[in-house]
Amino acid sequence: MSTERILVIGANGQIGKVLFPALQELWGKDNVTAADIRPVFDGEGIFEVLDATEPKAIYALLSRHKITQVYHLAAILSAKAEENPLSSWEINTRTLLNVLETGRECKVSKLFIPSSIAVFGPSAPRTKVPQNTFLDPSTAYGISKVATETWIAYYRRKYNLDVRSIRYPGVLGYQSMPGGGTTDYAVDIFYKAVKGEQYTCFLEKDTRLPMIYMNDAIRATLELMQASPENLSVDMAYNVASLSFTPEELGTAIRKYIPAFQITYVPDYRQTIAHSWPESIDDSVAQKDWGWQPKFGLDEVVRDMLEHLSNHS
Ligand code: SER
Repeated sequence: MSTERILVIGANGQIGKVLFPALQELWGKDNVTAADIRPVFDGEGIFEVLDATEPKAIYALLSRHKITQVYHLAAILSAKAEENPLSSWEINTRTLLNVLETGRECKVSKLFIPSSIAVFGPSAPRTKVPQNTFLDPSTAYGISKVATETWIAYYRRKYNLDVRSIRYPGVLGYQSMPGGGTTDYAVDIFYKAVKGEQYTCFLEKDTRLPMIYMNDAIRATLELMQASPENLSVDMAYNVASLSFTPEELGTAIRKYIPAFQITYVPDYRQTIAHSWPESIDDSVAQKDWGWQPKFGLDEVVRDMLEHLSNHS
């Protein structure tokens, strides 16, 4: 494998914080650069402050570090985006186009730009949503992710740019905190549980959503990026499935280890967002094209989360 030089944009975010060291492990510390708009970096390695709404700033980083692969993880997530839909659209799509265009100009060999289950809306089937279906999202974030996927396909077909994408389910892990998402409850809940506190959930107890453990999400990303291009039949973003659970089922799974744990339910506007998303995903195309298989089931996730968070709380 020849050496690649990697840039991770949004390295301070929930996924970036974990993907960055995984990429360092794969490509060597000197070959991976972290970038984020927030100037404080608590990882180890090369870090650059980057405002990805500025194409010249991205261009400068790509040139200076001789970047060959970009992971663009910066975005305003679903719940946060509803507070200011137009500026979130502006940020999410402006940074997307800047990354695609500078990537093309600088002839990077591969890009990863994630999508989300938020691309689905009321017209998609609620269970086992297939790879190809109606995409009529009802959130500003979802609309920006449908645009993301469409532009990815455009750059793939028109410019032959190797851009790859996954529709991430809600990601939960102990390594980093999510921010501004509707699925964030699935991380927050563990912090309360290990402290012996009760959790007030902003979703109804029976709201089933597709989720994935961080370790599986990182592995999916790396496996897709290493797949042979001729095996990839999807020009937009791959459905990836792992877990599907409700807050009540997660509470029951936690109670196996912390019997006194209590949840109360006070749904807010995020319930409407969650309700517009499917409950489960059909990822048979990802399985077929690049061999995707999740490893972590609900009990393993709960055990691993509690083990790590109890040791560090
Ligand atoms: N986890 C994201 C959110 O809740 C969905 O991609 O916004």
